[in-house]
Amino acid sequence: MRSMSEILTMLDSQVLSISLNRAEKMNALTRGMYGQLAHELNTADQEFGIRAVVITSEGDNFTGGNDISDFLENPPTAEDSTVAAFLSALHNFSKPLLIAVKGNAVGVGTTMLLHADIVVASESSKFSLPFTSLGLVPEAGSSFLLPRMIGHHRAAELFMTGDSFDASYAEQIGLVNYVVADPYEKAHEIAVKIAKQPPQAIINTKALMKANVHDSVAAVMRAEFEIFALALQSDEARNAFMQFLSRKREK
Ligand code: COA
Repeated sequence: MRSMSEILTMLDSQVLSISLNRAEKMNALTRGMYGQLAHELNTADQEFGIRAVVITSEGDNFTGGNDISDFLENPPTAEDSTVAAFLSALHNFSKPLLIAVKGNAVGVGTTMLLHADIVVASESSKFSLPFTSLGLVPEAGSSFLLPRMIGHHRAAELFMTGDSFDASYAEQIGLVNYVVADPYEKAHEIAVKIAKQPPQAIINTKALMKANVHDSVAAVMRAEFEIFALALQSDEARNAFMQFLSRKREK
């Protein structure tokens, strides 16, 4: 894999693999990582030689979500932040996007799956949406996409309790396609198969599947971002972040 600090990339069989590489911090996503991810996705979208992208991770986990220290020290306040750039790149990515999950997939680690075309998970996978527990609100269009995918009642329970759920529940609610021992291998295998298909037909198919919700999702993402940015400054959120960071120091 080509090293770009905390984001690795590898091109193979016209499939670009992008791997989160900050395993010692559970691949928690920093401002810099969001910026690199946005760059890789936008570049892959333009490159004719790239037919599909697989997002994966190093180590035993997918991601611990947004870096909590970044939330405290550098909260994203404008739509031109790197997190906004990443979410926009994800939302507008026109080619097949596959995601391979193992271990923890916290926060944006779960909400980004709603933008993928195919998701493969390991049995060790643990998904969670702890936004309300952190004094925050759902992001990445998830307040619209998750109820649409799994129904209002199930989405409300996940958002409002912050409870985590396992791979078998994720498969049951349609969040993942397969639960396998090696999710990256399976996702890459499917991506290579798709990469051999006529590329314009694939791009048109994805565009058609997303056409009737594309603008709604963009509007929801903007609304979520505004409330999220305000919530980040709230006492509820700052206390929750301090609690997480002090728990770490006590360990
Ligand atoms: N931001 C910053 N650091 C994080 C992180 C995050 N979102 N998630 C994990 N880490 C760091 C931990 O601080 C720890 O670093 P340290 O060894 O320097 O203390 C390291 O990654 C390993 O995590 P740890 O908490 O020790 O692992 P665990 O197996 O005990 O717990 C989780 C796993 C996912 C339950 C726990 O890490 C967690 O709750 N993370 C925060 C998740 C979160 O709220 N994300 C924001 C979503 S919006």
